[in-house]
Parts: sequence; C-alpha cells; structure tokens
Amino acid sequence: MDAFIQQIPKAELHVHVEGTLEPELMLALSRRNGVALPYASVEQIRAAYEFDNLQSFLDLYYAGMAVLRTSQDFHDLTLAYLQRSAAQGTRHVEMFFDPQAHTERGVPLEVVMDGIESGLDAGRDQHGISSMLILCFLRHLSAESAMEILEHARPHRDRIAAVGLDSSELGHPPSKFQKVFDRARDMGLPSVAHAGEEGPAAYITEALDLLRVARVDHGVRCLDDDALVARLVESRMPLTVCPMSNVKLRVFDTMDDHNLRAMLERGLCVTINSDDPAYFGGYAADNLAAAQRALDLSRAQVIELTRNSFEASFLGASDKARLLAELDGWVAAQPAD
Ligand code: ADE
Ligand code: ZN
Repeated sequence: MDAFIQQIPKAELHVHVEGTLEPELMLALSRRNGVALPYASVEQIRAAYEFDNLQSFLDLYYAGMAVLRTSQDFHDLTLAYLQRSAAQGTRHVEMFFDPQAHTERGVPLEVVMDGIESGLDAGRDQHGISSMLILCFLRHLSAESAMEILEHARPHRDRIAAVGLDSSELGHPPSKFQKVFDRARDMGLPSVAHAGEEGPAAYITEALDLLRVARVDHGVRCLDDDALVARLVESRMPLTVCPMSNVKLRVFDTMDDHNLRAMLERGLCVTINSDDPAYFGGYAADNLAAAQRALDLSRAQVIELTRNSFEASFLGASDKARLLAELDGWVAAQPAD
C-alpha cells in the first residue's frame, strides 16, 4: 500500500509556499541574505518544531520566513517544493502565498510573485507539475490591510487563480473579510478560506454564506454540526484536510483520533494535503500514508481521496478530464491487492 500511495497521481490543493521552507534552505538563505536566525543548526531548527496550537506554529512560521528576501529566494523555495512533490506523485498544485507577511517586511509583492511564478514555471518544465497561485489574506490583520493588498494585486489579476484566508483563526471570523471577498469576486476571482481548523463549525457556515467560497480549507470541525454536514455533502463542497498538520497543531491528539475516515463515511468531498510540510514532517503522499495507516483506509478510499483532489481543483474541464484519465489508467495498471 505504501508504494501505491507514494506513486498514485494526485493534486495538492492546500500548501503554503512559506511552509515548505525546510531547515536546510532556511539556514542557507539566512547566510546568503545576512539575516540572523535564533538557530545555529538544522537540528536546532527541527527541535524547535513542537507546537501546542496554531498560534505557537504561526509565531515560528512568520519568524522563519524572514530569510526570504529576493525573487531568487522565492524561486528556489518553490522549485525545491515541486521537486519533493514530484517524487510523491503530485501532478498539480494550487499554492497559497501570504503577500502581507512579505510586504510588511519591505519585500515588494512583485518580488514575491515573480520568484514564485518562475519557480512554478521551472517545476512545470522539469517535473511536469501544473500549478496555480492563491493569494491569501492574513486574518489577524485588518480588513483594510487585506483590501489594500488586493488592490495592489489588481494589475496581476491574471496571475492569480483565487484568493484565500489564513493565519490565526479564533477571534477572526470570515465575516470580518466579507467586503474584501466581495471585491475579489467583482474582479472575477473565486475564493477559498481556512475555516473550522481551530475555529467552530459556525465559521465554516460563514465562509459559505458570506465569503461564498468554492472550497473550505481544513473544515474538520464540520462534524459538530449535522445540518452543515448535510449541506456540504449535498453541494459536494471540497474540504482540503491536512492530517499531519492537525496532529502537530493538536487539533487531534493522535492520528488515530483524526476524523478523516468519519468525514469520508459521511459522504464529504475530502482531499488530503500537507499544509506546511517543512514544519509538520510530511508532503502530500506522507500525509496520505500516515492517515491510511492510522485509520485503516481502504484502497478504494485512497483512490477516492486522490480523485477528489483533481475534481476539487480550479483546473478547467479538459485538464481535469486529462488528469482523471491519467489517474484511472495508473490505477488500472496496478496489480490487484
Ligand atoms: N498559515 C500557514 N499554515 C496555516 C494553518 N494551518 N492555518 C492557518 N494559517 C496558516
Ligand atoms: Zn493552511
């Protein structure tokens, strides 16, 4: 089953480019850019990655990304992620980035976007992975700040597939950003939002009703609300679940306690993703393997999860059909269990 999971063609729909910064590259960039870090070695960095909750992770995540300063840095970061992903069967990526985390430090939006984009182009050429970019607003900052970055991104509208919402969830409900998401929709941009990771099921409902999202990121708290589950099932709303992240950030105590299998059994359109793989210890296939093992998922459920990943993507109909046909062909060519 492990080789099957590693190689099955898949899409990753929930990965923050800043969360793919492995300790080795963090140290190399701190030297290249003369940015001091509170760590002297890769081992010290890894040892710091013990989290009690989302905020304790975010504090390190924002500190770590201080080493990212030039387009070359963002290019190297993006391409290193795609290389690792390609080795795990990833065929398509929809990548989040947090522009406010960089513009606030004086790194211009264009520097960030140019670097990520050239990394994505190189990844397409070298590894055959197609990709899209999702601009995320930081929900711990104001709605005015989000609106400002959206307006700043307007000339680059065609380089962005969607907008998203991330960072500290509790106390920052989707309703805070309704006007920003209205503006993004007026620009023709679809949206996604982190909701129901640490926050309550009511935040998922707000994301649907007020932000009109096309996907919910995480969404694991939906099982607290039966009417919401019925609505999500009926609309086949995708939920981009990140199992290793959820365990690392103590959303669930252990992988055995994760509700992913229950979500599948309720008929929800679940996908499996890595979120911040450099911080949580695993890329897309690692997440699928960890969940499969702990929850004893069947081969049919593994196939369902990867099929969902393509169906839930922002790809157009013909690209989706091509990748789904690739998946079906790959599965058909595997020996039976
Ligand atoms: N930013 C990066 N990872 C995140 C997560 N898991 N939740 C919210 N914001 C994030
Ligand atoms: Zn996330």
